[in-house]
Amino acid sequence: MKSNIVQFSNLLHDNQFYETILSWFKQNQRNLYWRENRTIYLTYLTEVMLQQTTVSTVQNKLPTILKEFPDFKSFKSKKINDFLKCWSGLGYYNRAINFYKSASIINKNFKGNLPDNKDDLLNLPGVGEYTANAIISIGYNKRAFPIDVNIKRLISRLTNESFSDQQASEILNNIAIKKRNFRKFAESMMDYSSLICKKNYPQCQKCKFQNYCKSAFTKFSSLKKNKILSKNINFYLVENKNYICFIKNPKFQFYKNFLHLPSSLDTELLSKYKKNKKTLKSSFQYSITKYRFKINVHEIFTKKIIKDHDIVWLKKSEISQIPIPTLFKKILN
Ligand code: ADE
Repeated sequence: MKSNIVQFSNLLHDNQFYETILSWFKQNQRNLYWRENRTIYLTYLTEVMLQQTTVSTVQNKLPTILKEFPDFKSFKSKKINDFLKCWSGLGYYNRAINFYKSASIINKNFKGNLPDNKDDLLNLPGVGEYTANAIISIGYNKRAFPIDVNIKRLISRLTNESFSDQQASEILNNIAIKKRNFRKFAESMMDYSSLICKKNYPQCQKCKFQNYCKSAFTKFSSLKKNKILSKNINFYLVENKNYICFIKNPKFQFYKNFLHLPSSLDTELLSKYKKNKKTLKSSFQYSITKYRFKINVHEIFTKKIIKDHDIVWLKKSEISQIPIPTLFKKILN
């Protein structure tokens, strides 16, 4: 494999891959808010957001987050719930929790400045190889090569070989051995792999590398879809005039660290209301990761306020002040 890496690095280098992709980027790069208003903070924040969220959703959500959290310092006076509220709708809330913790460490240990070396970055909560390399190359324009699925696909198709992230990064390092434009190289790889060397229907007719790409004009359109799992689930609005029942340790565990509305899986709680009338309020479909839920929402009006360490009765007028995942907002509406 070692010799393959050298061989492919030479193939790409001899065909001026670096120069070609940078020149394509100059003409075709995406206009993205975080590129036009670049700060180290914004680079880190958007890389975290982009890990499980599309570019257009991130662009739409950024103004809300930046209004309250424009930089690392702004985290000093804010609670984690304030950040989660801004993050609401993006899902994968662990990313937000880690980012908040990380911002606090940066304020405390690094005087509000994000480190530019890999060891310190890797010690921050939620920062792995990809994010550390993205911060170093895109944020600081220093030698590093972030490898995401899109970039790996581009390299694998060019060579018709599969590589680990480490090997893909080695190839890019070899290609850029005497180069300095690490930011543009990383961003051009991201844009090229998203816009031209797409997962389905790659645009080979527009591709600058078609002469030597080992997968040029191969059909990639019928890749198998991830299996969707359909499930039915009932949620319950257990309420009286002013309060509504939330639980801390639900059986429906998609939103760690958030209060949940009780579902049909929370049998112990529901058994206490089994004699109460249940009225169907609404039904809708809701997808989370690979699951497609058919959600039925039932109302239970009750005078019985059960006190338990696992139960929180929230005042209806105060619900808008706490972070709530979009699914529960939909159920409450
Ligand atoms: N995907 C992940 N990081 C990105 C970035 N910085 N620009 C565009 N797409 C991305």
